Amino acid sequence: MDATDAIPAVRLDGVSKQFADSYAVHDLDLDIEAGHFFSLLGPSGCGKTTSLRMIGGFTDPTEGSVLLAGEDVTGLPPNKRNVNTVFQSYALFDHLSIADNIAFGLKRKGVDRAETHKRVAEMLDLVQLGGLADRMPRTLSGGQRQRVALARALVNRPAVLLLDEPLAALDLKLRRQMQVELKQIQREVGITFVFVTHDQDEALTMSDRIAVLNAGRVEQCGTPEDIYEHPASRFVASFMGTSNLMTGTYRAGEVALDQGPALPVGRRSGITDGTAVSVSVRPEKIWLSDFEQDMPVLSGVIRETVYSGPTTTYLIEIAPGVTLSVLEQNTARARMEDRWSGGETVEFGWRPEHCLVLA
Ligand SMILES: Nc1ncnc2c1ncn2[C@@H]1O[C@H](COP(=O)(O)OP(=O)(O)O)[C@@H](O)[C@H]1O
Ligand SMILES: [Mg+2]
Repeated sequence: MDATDAIPAVRLDGVSKQFADSYAVHDLDLDIEAGHFFSLLGPSGCGKTTSLRMIGGFTDPTEGSVLLAGEDVTGLPPNKRNVNTVFQSYALFDHLSIADNIAFGLKRKGVDRAETHKRVAEMLDLVQLGGLADRMPRTLSGGQRQRVALARALVNRPAVLLLDEPLAALDLKLRRQMQVELKQIQREVGITFVFVTHDQDEALTMSDRIAVLNAGRVEQCGTPEDIYEHPASRFVASFMGTSNLMTGTYRAGEVALDQGPALPVGRRSGITDGTAVSVSVRPEKIWLSDFEQDMPVLSGVIRETVYSGPTTTYLIEIAPGVTLSVLEQNTARARMEDRWSGGETVEFGWRPEHCLVLA
């Protein structure tokens, strides 16, 4: 690797944004590697849009600096940054054809007709709208309009593309399809994407790396697997899907629940006996049968069974008022007659390393 490879496409260095007396973003340090699909993930109001606007130059930070490919661009207007943005409300020009919508930025830059024509055709192919060049925007579906917006933002070949919840307005099935397409497009063009979403599944399936934001701060930054399998905090564990969060006291490889049994947990350095902790075990990491040798096994009562096609979720009461959610795959080998209907006492267990002790 030579030195230039190491320069991140985007660097936020101690960036804060204060509105009146509150911080929308607080002391953000973030490096985004060139060519990555990077997501900013977090609940509504956590500062995702404000962060994106500071990268794009639509909002100035109150403290800190924004660097693009190593160059300090803090204070520069959007058109002086090699960055484009796709907003959630993807306003197209209704009086212009699809091709002219896409060509708009190139015309303003004075790119000649032949080159414009070639690039627009490339973009139409990229977003799979090849036959629709002459159609007007109002004749397109929501998904097609979103693709035009994407093509229009990519045609200038920016170094970085910023996307603020671009799929939020689409229905679930179309959104899933567009997630796959968008990721393919990103790989094909190799441009750094900074993608904002509040949807954890979306971030997990699309990203090379994810920064989880909470109240203007980064809670954790890592690969989808890091974030899901090794959440760094209670907030991250609970935000990323169902996590069976409980509280108790750590003692010698176990956590004695405040109300309930002692749970086998994974190692965690820096925690001494007697410390009050949170623990989390994912529903799909809990075993209900065929236990491994030496696997610690506990028992509980099935309180609810929720069948959802490929999976069934059981709610198991392990102590008065303490329930665990357990997910089972309904595979070809699973026998439906072995399913519980409720009220049965069952055994369950997990590998200790799958029960995480959280800060
Ligand atoms: N122009 C503004 N003036 C005052 N407060 C703002 C402004 N923009 C955003 N905020 C506040 O900053 C916080 C973060 O907002 P935002 O970045 O839009 O969050 P997100 O995109 O994650 O939903 C929110 O509390 C919001 O109310
Ligand atoms: Mg937002």
